[in-house]
Parts: sequence; structure tokens; C-alpha cells
Amino acid sequence: MKAACFCVPAINWRADPGHKEPFRAARMARVENTMSDQAFDVVLARSGRTVHVSAGQSIANALLDAGIDVAVACEEGMCGACVVPLLAGEADHRDTVLGDDEQQRAIALCCSRARTPSLTLDL
Ligand code: FES
Repeated sequence: MKAACFCVPAINWRADPGHKEPFRAARMARVENTMSDQAFDVVLARSGRTVHVSAGQSIANALLDAGIDVAVACEEGMCGACVVPLLAGEADHRDTVLGDDEQQRAIALCCSRARTPSLTLDL
């Protein structure tokens, strides 16, 4: 009787999986956008606090540095763990999880930035 080998999965492995391209494109766009990052403020509607976000710093890191607990996971705009409601201001969305309609009322704190001097969050 011939023994079967189960050490190599019987799949067709592709050297260059095309399904990763959108993520790579989004990551490259974030890298290019980082070159022109500007500082801005984040206003927390519930507490009235204002937190400054420096150029090159994420909103999530600015909030964590200020002692404000926010959820983060992938830190690359791909999982949605850091998404919070956006109440005012225009966001520069750099995530891959929010749809066009969701971008009008939410923001991913780990990667997105502001196109206006401040953003108001429902935090
Ligand atoms: S931590 Fe995953 S999208 Fe922000």
C-alpha cells in the first residue's frame, strides 16, 4: 500500500496574487500623502477637549499620547477597529474599509487625516 503525503497542500499557488493590489495601492497612496501631511486639531465633542495632531503623527497616536483610550488593531486602515463617528470637518480618508457614504460620517483614526484645520469626533 502506498502512503499518502499530506505535507504540501494541493492548491494552485500563484506567485503574484492579484487580490493584494488594492491594499498595496492604498498603502503607496498613504506613503505619498505622508510627504504633505499637515498638523491639525481634533475636537472631542463629548468632553470638549482639543488634541493637536502633529505632521506625521496619526490621530490614534495623538489621542493615546493625550491619555485617551482608542481601539487600534492593524494600524494600516484595513480592519476598521479604529473607526469613529466624524461630526464636523473634512477628512482625508486613507483607509480601505469605509465606503463612500460611510466616509461622510466616520473616520479611521489610525491612518486618515484632515483637509480642514480641525475635525470634530464623537468621542
Ligand atoms: S486600526 Fe485597523 S483600520 Fe485603523
